[in-house]
Amino acid sequence: MINLILFGPPGSGKGTQSDFLVEKYNLHHISTGDMFRSEIGGKTELGLLAKSYMNKGELVPDEVTISMLKKRVEDNPGVQGYIFDGFPRTVPQAEALDRMLEEMGQSVNLVELKVGDDELRRRLLERGKTSGRADDTNVDTINNRIQVYKDNTIPVATYYDSHGKAAFVEGEGAIEEVTNRLFNVVDSL
Ligand code: AP5
Repeated sequence: MINLILFGPPGSGKGTQSDFLVEKYNLHHISTGDMFRSEIGGKTELGLLAKSYMNKGELVPDEVTISMLKKRVEDNPGVQGYIFDGFPRTVPQAEALDRMLEEMGQSVNLVELKVGDDELRRRLLERGKTSGRADDTNVDTINNRIQVYKDNTIPVATYYDSHGKAAFVEGEGAIEEVTNRLFNVVDSL
């Protein structure tokens, strides 16, 4: 069984590459961003709360995010493995994930997509022309997302690296090239 955290800044290609990893390794994809967007679409209480953070490029509080994630894992027993996309984004989220997987007798490896800030801004603004995502259209919000990643989320990669469970992949270049680099890393785990 493989459990993977596909890690990287906003716009680094986590969602895009998750689709290929899901297909090749038969993993169950969990994207906390997609889950929040679905709650927003359903105008639920959780959606309203999440929207107030997401539209500013801030993180939704850990407590809310961790309990939503746990429920999704519990609702999908017996899968071949998980790919976590956009989670964990803070060290407390990483610790909660590790505890949960440990109780299931499993562990996880992190693979980080490295992409420069200018390329991230270019990709997100381009997607913002059609995505309808409020957090993709305003350059200040995009810059805040990148800054929040640097301040709160990079420590997650350091945390897994200190446990010998982190690898990275160059995330710039054609989508197919990045996919092949990821496959090489995952095959070596
Ligand atoms: P989330 O939905 O996770 O968004 P994100 O991390 O900001 O990342 P994106 O989905 O925008 O980018 P991606 O890396 O998946 O890249 P993609 O493949 O889409 O989170 C949104 C918000 O939800 C957060 O800001 C936060 O508020 C909240 N949230 C979510 N999880 C949370 C958590 N755990 N804790 C607290 N809050 C949380 O690609 C981007 C674009 O680039 C696409 O148009 C794609 O076609 C293009 N592209 C991809 N690869 C390439 C390539 N190689 N070359 C050129 N273009 C490419």
